[in-house]
Amino acid sequence: MLVRTYGSAVYGINAQKITIEVDSSRGVGFYLVGLPDSAVRESFQRIDVALSTNGYKLPGKKIVVNMAPADIRKEGSAYDLPLAIGILASDERISPQLLEDYMIMGELALDGQLRPIRGALPMAINAKEEGFRGIILPSANAREAAVVKGLEVYGMDNLQQVIDFLEQRADFEPVRVDLEKEFFQNLDNYEADFSDVKGQENVKRALEIAAAGGHNVLMIGPPGSGKTMLAKRMPSILPPLTLEEALETTKIHSVAGRLGTNVSLLTRRPFRSPHHTISDVALVGGGSYPQPGEISLAHNGVLFLDELPEFKRSVLEVLRQPLEDRVITISRSKFSVEYPASFMLIAAMNPCPCGYYNHPEKECVCTPSQIRRYLNKISGPLLDRFDIHIEVIPVPFKDLSDNRQSESSRKIRQRVIAARKIQQKRFAQYPSIHYNAQMGAKLIRKFCKIDDTSQQLLRAAVERLQLSARAYDRILKVSRTIADLEQSPDIEPHHIAEAIQYRSLDKETWGNKY
Ligand SMILES: Nc1ncnc2c1ncn2[C@@H]1O[C@H](COP(=O)(O)OP(=O)(O)O)[C@@H](O)[C@H]1O
Ligand SMILES: [Mg+2]
Ligand SMILES: [Zn+2]
Repeated sequence: MLVRTYGSAVYGINAQKITIEVDSSRGVGFYLVGLPDSAVRESFQRIDVALSTNGYKLPGKKIVVNMAPADIRKEGSAYDLPLAIGILASDERISPQLLEDYMIMGELALDGQLRPIRGALPMAINAKEEGFRGIILPSANAREAAVVKGLEVYGMDNLQQVIDFLEQRADFEPVRVDLEKEFFQNLDNYEADFSDVKGQENVKRALEIAAAGGHNVLMIGPPGSGKTMLAKRMPSILPPLTLEEALETTKIHSVAGRLGTNVSLLTRRPFRSPHHTISDVALVGGGSYPQPGEISLAHNGVLFLDELPEFKRSVLEVLRQPLEDRVITISRSKFSVEYPASFMLIAAMNPCPCGYYNHPEKECVCTPSQIRRYLNKISGPLLDRFDIHIEVIPVPFKDLSDNRQSESSRKIRQRVIAARKIQQKRFAQYPSIHYNAQMGAKLIRKFCKIDDTSQQLLRAAVERLQLSARAYDRILKVSRTIADLEQSPDIEPHHIAEAIQYRSLDKETWGNKY
């Protein structure tokens, strides 16, 4: 007999309903149609074993499975469960009564246990949109799906439980998550706080400006100076996630299978710090079954690239486009997917190959040409993506042992939020612009007007430091943010003067300096 079950296919960060038609009739053989990939084909083997270990049998008939719509790729092993259920129902071993009401997804282990799947959150959203009463998923994925309101989410441990549910043999409780409660209770609950960082007032100031204007930062300093420690604390001074941002970030992690068991919602801004040996696919996303990369896992948060010159040049090059577009498109011959990738880039590097150039106590052993070659590893266009360069000098030991608490992240964040409010108003008519770092040349002319004194100051700096026209624009953007932090409508000369300090690593400057 012909029955239907329903599953869901994830594309990018959204999902689409898949109808699985199963017919068993007289004859032998198993036929899958509707563009299923090899993993879906293999699932027939798993289903066969899982059924028999649970006391069921594949019908000794001709089974035809059609997965529709046919023009959509169906990848992976997450269709095991709806296929197995469809086969049993078509053989009249279980009642088809509830099959129209529930979307079903899950991977089967050979003993019939259900393994976690990727993309449960977008699938649940899809189930709701398609008007299903509920969704049946592996237990590990139930909480992420349960953030969708108005949908019954059942987390199951094994095939037998799903059969019992569909046969209405036992009472099952849907998993409930109170989205608002989950969100507001855990919001801004960061473990790492700026109050742990002793001294480094100038670096903290630079990072506050960066957070306020959404500027990318390059930190340069010897090993042990606290670069990693500082970068890790960056998410804690960014404005709190909105519920919408939290959901979008959770979706990406759900699709990547990185959410973790029993997690319902990500409420903290992500901090991702991939090692410098990372491949370009792992960084920006890709693969034959496209998966989000680190830049998308960092969406709405921070991507930290430590030891920047150690990254392969090809890897850094692929970063440039998504840094501009805030989204990455992965194209395959038959389809393409998009993942959001709006993150703040923080990079760190040593000042020279030995690491101790300019160190207060240790001696640098590098020659000037070695230092120049090292710094040149970072291409001009990439360097150009950083509005703020900041040197990190190690804090002397006596200051490290000082017991006084530094300012908390919460306090810094309040100033950041106030500065962002001004920017929201400023860019109200520009839907794609949210903060100063995103201004292009035209908006810089419009919103970063400066008086004669500032003009002279800037011109002198350009000559002295041999700054490029681009560096000039970056100084204007950063001064706009500094003025916003002071709630100053105009950019004043002292804002410009401070912003100039954050260009200390421009190529032209390096030459003079080192
Ligand atoms: N300003 C500081 N305040 C408190 N601890 C610090 C500070 N600077 C460095 N440290 C300590 O030194 C350790 C090493 O710092 P780290 O951030 O790894 O340096 P880097 O990344 O520059 O090599 C930190 O984990 C922290 O314990
Ligand atoms: Mg480090
Ligand atoms: Zn050195």
